[in-house]
Amino acid sequence: MKIAVLPGDGIGTEIVAEAVKVLNALDLGLEMEQAPVGGAGYEASGHPLPPATLKLAKEADAVLFGAVGDWKYDTLDRPLRPEQAILGLRKELGLFANFRPAICYEQLVGASSLKPELIAGLDILIIRELTGDIYFGQPRGRRTATDGHFPGAEEAFDTMRYSRPEIERIAHVAFQAAQKRSKRVTSVDKANVLETFQFWKDVVTEVGKQYPDVALDHMYVDNAAMQLVKAPKKFDVVVTGNMFGDILSDEAAMLTGSIGMLPSASLNDKKQGLYEPSHGSAPDIAGKGIANPLATILSAAMMLRFSLAQPEAADRVENAVKAVLAEGLRTPDIYSEGTTKVGTREMGEAVVKALK
Ligand code: NAD
Ligand code: IPM
Ligand code: MN
Repeated sequence: MKIAVLPGDGIGTEIVAEAVKVLNALDLGLEMEQAPVGGAGYEASGHPLPPATLKLAKEADAVLFGAVGDWKYDTLDRPLRPEQAILGLRKELGLFANFRPAICYEQLVGASSLKPELIAGLDILIIRELTGDIYFGQPRGRRTATDGHFPGAEEAFDTMRYSRPEIERIAHVAFQAAQKRSKRVTSVDKANVLETFQFWKDVVTEVGKQYPDVALDHMYVDNAAMQLVKAPKKFDVVVTGNMFGDILSDEAAMLTGSIGMLPSASLNDKKQGLYEPSHGSAPDIAGKGIANPLATILSAAMMLRFSLAQPEAADRVENAVKAVLAEGLRTPDIYSEGTTKVGTREMGEAVVKALK
């Protein structure tokens, strides 16, 4: 089994190094090949997603991805920006289904900025559509306005759009995921304002009729953002579009204690997958050795489960993470009084030790 390892930029290199140690320690004979991506790809070959990196990703059984981006690239032309690498991989590999499980581990109930009783026992699954919506809709660009409030002014525009098959397939993913959980789906939309999301709501409702065992409800995204911090445990599976899913999953990350705890899996219809933490390259803490590697290590566990058919190894990794948390080890983002503060490497090595 071959894994393409794409660390990327900032803390990406630091956290992926720890996940690789964990994978190696499992002794599964995994073949791992590393390649530059994002700002690192741009530096190496003038493009954030170098053709050789894309080829490696396409040919691999799975991709382990760190994070891309740095403020210093924010003035580059858009096609050259690091973020285009992850968007390009999602598009080229057809990774339309993004799973972002927000689980609050018992030991981290005190690490969140929310009251412990709100998040104790939390286990929700955000399913984010990942290859459509305003992220990929055309046309987009800049032009001179011919109408609107200021005709003649410079303006910018993007296109929000979803086709029926795009909504149907992500809805099926959500209902099938719910069948394996507590059989509830909340579809998040903005149907009260946006035609794209009235269509989304209509199509999800139609697909839902094929799953009479799953209860479906609908919620507007603004209310969902509020309910997520008011009563997060009322949710089970949340399915939503690309942009709302981006925002709500960062919000949900804080329900787990830290964004450094939220893993993700991005799958296509062949169950090929890309696995990455939900956070970014964290330029503010990069190079300091303090980033939390657990979201990446937990993403590697999702890779073992979804793409490599190694559910027992996945369980081992998840149990090792729980064990180090039970030992009281904490990177600064999840630190609380009475626990032991450790760096990225110590945390990764503790997980390796706990595996054995
Ligand atoms: P970010 O997720 O990188 O960081 C937000 C905050 O969370 C920062 O304070 C950071 O220090 C903290 N944080 C993130 N991950 C952490 C970890 N593992 N441990 C401890 N703290 C952590 O978001 P941002 O600052 O808005 O973006 C930084 C760059 O990352 C931008 O260039 C952005 O485009 C990019 N980005 C990339 C991805 C990706 O590669 N998939 C995802 C999100 C953002
Ligand atoms: C994420 C990130 C990306 C997104 C960016 C870096 C393109 O925020 O993976 O959540 O918006 O999808
Ligand atoms: Mn995001």
